[in-house]
Amino acid sequence: MEWSAERGVDLGGVMAMARSFYQSQLLLNAVKLGVFTALGEGPASAEQLRERLELHPRGARDFFDALVSIGLLVRDGELYSNGSTAANHLDKNKPQAYLGGFLGLSGDIYPLWANLAESLKTGNPQVNKDHIFEIYSGPEQQQREFFDTMSTVTRMSAPDVAKAVDWSRYKSFVDVGGSIGTLAATIVQAHPHLQATCLDLPLIEPHFTRTVNELGVAEQVTFQGADFFNEPLPEADVLILAHILHDWDIEQRRTLLNKAFEAVRPGGAVVVLDTMIDDERSDRGHALLMSLDMLLFSPGGSEYTFGELCVWFAEAGFVRPSAHLIANGFECLAIAHKPA
Ligand SMILES: C[S@@+](CC[C@H](N)C(=O)[O-])C[C@H]1O[C@@H](n2cnc3c(N)ncnc32)[C@H](O)[C@@H]1O
Repeated sequence: MEWSAERGVDLGGVMAMARSFYQSQLLLNAVKLGVFTALGEGPASAEQLRERLELHPRGARDFFDALVSIGLLVRDGELYSNGSTAANHLDKNKPQAYLGGFLGLSGDIYPLWANLAESLKTGNPQVNKDHIFEIYSGPEQQQREFFDTMSTVTRMSAPDVAKAVDWSRYKSFVDVGGSIGTLAATIVQAHPHLQATCLDLPLIEPHFTRTVNELGVAEQVTFQGADFFNEPLPEADVLILAHILHDWDIEQRRTLLNKAFEAVRPGGAVVVLDTMIDDERSDRGHALLMSLDMLLFSPGGSEYTFGELCVWFAEAGFVRPSAHLIANGFECLAIAHKPA
């Protein structure tokens, strides 16, 4: 990184930044109160909506009009209704497209950001946990939110992973830390000749089984319950690490890539998907902010650049790395090969 032009922000911009949490909290609290789900039943006046949501009269109207002002609701005369994005993605009664888990987790992350300075001083996360996956010992609701969030994000990038790799050259893959199987399912649906293994912690299996049965891919995608640090990875033509490396510190990333190299058959490939930081560190797609998220809730995680990944690939023995920007604009898919 050599030089970076001043991007410039005026005083109004700084004042707006200081209060930019307004929008975030309007959205998250509207979801918490069920505003969009209530309006999914039909337009309502301020008084009808207030009664449906059991709100006190004092702030209700300001709240509804503030939601209009940020584009989530529409007001036509006296009647409020959902804007099109809210109607499609914020109404709980449309579970396929509902962003619920993502919003739930955003709400959990929100208070951690208030203590960013503390993490920047100490290097320690703001959660009292040894590693982020202790979420699995928490309440069932939080686990579901985590699976929902991962699936929501993964559903957006999975079609690109299915396209960016020349799958006709391969017969099998392992999705390492593949969670409930969303990515593996999308790939085998697009390339039915493939056999896949989804490797994740054993407690995920019932959630995985439900997903592959619903998606009709149970024959092609099987589950292997394992700890990827303590057990060898299963052999396959391709190993996928999607949203995995950024969860761990640099030594652990190296360990996983070395294990992936052992497991990939000669002539095969490793595929890495993460929110990578662009080489200019310009925060394309908020990768730097996501990296600070990792500081706040994991002991060693962070985002990284494709250049850094290439060094770890080479150390493990992988050759010919290439990078593909995912259509969602904030993720990067990297592929590297094991010599034949
Ligand atoms: C951030 S999620 C990514 C899930 C999935 N790859 C995706 O892109 O949607 C990380 C996954 O790694 C799994 N995981 C964490 N630690 C693990 C371990 N030691 N062994 C196996 N899986 C693990 C978690 O259960 C979780 O499903």
